[in-house]
Amino acid sequence: QKLEMELEAIEKGGYDHFMLKEIYEQPKSIKDTMRGRIHLDKGLIALGGIRDYERALANARRIIFVACGTSWHAGLVAEYLFEELTRIPVEVEYASEFRYRNPIIYDDDIVIAISQSGETADTLAALEIAKQKGATTLGICNVVGSTISRVTDAGAYTHAGPEIGVASTKAFTAQVTVATLMALHIAHFKGSINTSQFNRYLFEFQSIPDKVERVLEKAAESKVIAEIYKDATNALFLGRGINFPVALEGALKLKEISYIHAEGYPAAEMKHGPIALIDENMPVFVIANQGPSYKKVVSNIEEVKARSGKVIAIVTEGDKDVKDMADYSFEVPECDELFTPLLTVVPLQLISYHVAVMRGCNVDQPRNLAKSVTVE
Ligand code: G6P
Repeated sequence: QKLEMELEAIEKGGYDHFMLKEIYEQPKSIKDTMRGRIHLDKGLIALGGIRDYERALANARRIIFVACGTSWHAGLVAEYLFEELTRIPVEVEYASEFRYRNPIIYDDDIVIAISQSGETADTLAALEIAKQKGATTLGICNVVGSTISRVTDAGAYTHAGPEIGVASTKAFTAQVTVATLMALHIAHFKGSINTSQFNRYLFEFQSIPDKVERVLEKAAESKVIAEIYKDATNALFLGRGINFPVALEGALKLKEISYIHAEGYPAAEMKHGPIALIDENMPVFVIANQGPSYKKVVSNIEEVKARSGKVIAIVTEGDKDVKDMADYSFEVPECDELFTPLLTVVPLQLISYHVAVMRGCNVDQPRNLAKSVTVE
C-alpha cells in the first residue's frame, strides 16, 4: 500500500494530481505531436501515416468526424479548421447517434475517428458502418496499436503520451494539433491556400507550444478566479466561431470534475434560452479573444452584464474593452484565430481543476466516469 502510494507520487512528478500534471505537459505534448511533421525549412508538413490518402482527402466530397466526449469537441474544432482551410464540407457526428441512424455515406467520403484511447465502443461501431458503406476511414488516436488505430485504413497519431486523468486535457490539445496539421497539409496540397499563406501558418503554428507555456505562467490567476466562483451551482460558457467548441469543452471540464452544472453555448444563442438563467449568482465564462467575432462577443457580454451576470473573460493580451466590462479576465497571447483554441482552452482547464480541488472532489477519478468507455 505504502509502496503503491509512493509509486503514484513519483508518477505524478511532484504534482498533486495527474490532471494538473497533464495540463502542464501541454507545451511538450503539443510539441511532441508536431515533432518531425513541421518542416519550416522545406516548407512542408509530413504526415507519413496518411501519405497514401492525401489525394483522397483533397478530393473528398465530404469529411465526417465521428467521436465521443472531449474528442467530439476536438472534431468540432476540426470542422472549422478543415472548412476554412480546405473548403471541403465537414460534418461532426456523435458516434453513438451516427451508428444507429442508417447514415448516408458515399464512397468518396472520408470518415475520421478521433479517440484518445482508440477503444471507445461507439466510435468503433461508427467506423465499422462507414467501412461497410465503402468510405475511407482514418483515425486520430493517442494509444498506439489501439483497436481504432488498427481497423482504420490509415491515420495520424497524437503524441500526447499516456493520459491518466479521466478528464481529458493534453489529449484534446494534441487532437486539435493533428487536425490543424492535416487541414493545413491538405489545403496546401489542394491549393486552397497558396504557398505563402501556408508558410505563414506554419511559422505561426510552431510558436504555439511557447504561447501555451506563457498561458501556464499565469496559472495563479486561475486559482484566484476559482476561489471566487467555487460555490456556484451553475455556470455558462460562451464562445463563437472556432472558440464555440472550446466553450463546450470548458463546460464539460467543469461539470465532469467539480459536479457544478455547466452549459456551453454559442454566444449568440444565449438569447434563445440560457439568458433566462442569468442573475448575479451566475458566472459566465466568455471566450473573447481578438478576432473576427470580437465585436459580436462584446455585445454578448453587454447582454450578460445588463442582467447582473458575472463575466469571466478569456481575452487577448493587451485587451481593453472586454477587460473593462468583465469581472475577471485571463489573458492569452495573440495568435491567428485558427490556432486560438489551443490557448483559450488552457485557462478553462485550470479553473475547472482548481474549483474541483477546492470543492474536495476526486479530480483524477470523478464519480461515475470512466477513462475509456468500451461498452455501449
Ligand atoms: C470518456 C472519457 C472522456 C473521453 C471520451 C471519449 O467519456 O471520460 O475523457 O473524451 O470517453 O474517449 P476517447 O478515448 O474515444 O477519446
